Amino acid sequence: MRKPFLAGNWKMYKTVGEALDLVRRLNISVGQMRDREVLVCPPFTALKSVSQILTDSQIRLGAQNMHYEKEGAFTGDISAAMLVDVGVEYVILGHSERRHVFGESDTLISKKVPAAISANLKPILCIGEKIEERQAGQTQSVVLRQLEQGLSAVPKDHAAHVTIAYEPVWAIGTGHTATPRQAQEVHALIRGALQKKFGSTAETIRILYGGSVKPDNIDSLMAERDIDGALVGGASLTPESFSRIVRYANAGS
Ligand code: 13P
Repeated sequence: MRKPFLAGNWKMYKTVGEALDLVRRLNISVGQMRDREVLVCPPFTALKSVSQILTDSQIRLGAQNMHYEKEGAFTGDISAAMLVDVGVEYVILGHSERRHVFGESDTLISKKVPAAISANLKPILCIGEKIEERQAGQTQSVVLRQLEQGLSAVPKDHAAHVTIAYEPVWAIGTGHTATPRQAQEVHALIRGALQKKFGSTAETIRILYGGSVKPDNIDSLMAERDIDGALVGGASLTPESFSRIVRYANAGS
């Protein structure tokens, strides 16, 4: 019912030439898969060139951030319409690096999510606790607060456009993946909260796991009931490892 969703967040890596090289290779290996959705999120500078390569591909294009205003004096920022203009379909919002390195608040993120939807972009709202919050037993409260606030201005009839990514901060770029059981526990909590808020639409909302996803742990993560895909950082930067993640072994088949 929920199509598996394998997304690569390239972060601040890849010049235009490098991005094109990577996406051409990915296109050969996974560019025509229709039973799952594959997404690449290059840096802003490479979006347009990558978009041109992907015209006949099933691979989708995403951006890593945006401003909530339509336009204005916001030096260094970029609008939803600018992303749509270069062929972008998805946008990552509230990534932990935006929250913790650049100080983005739940309030700011809560403005970006509906702004993306209004501009016909599909937001991927990232949420996740820090290690000290997990150790203090605050995982549930942090995740539910970020989820509730991030979606506070999303009406029920727009909920189907949203994807959630659970990315525990302690697992990002550290090699310490959450165990499938730890991730499933939080994903089930998120699914329950979505059900409360959006009713049956919650069954269609995909919840991705992110944080040190690699070829050798994707299969067991994807076997969990509420893990619908992955948001992959480091392992999305080479065609071999990301293709293997996209082609995860389905425990059910
Ligand atoms: P890593 O896969 O490098 O841990 O990064 C995860 C992430 O932040 C994806 O958005």
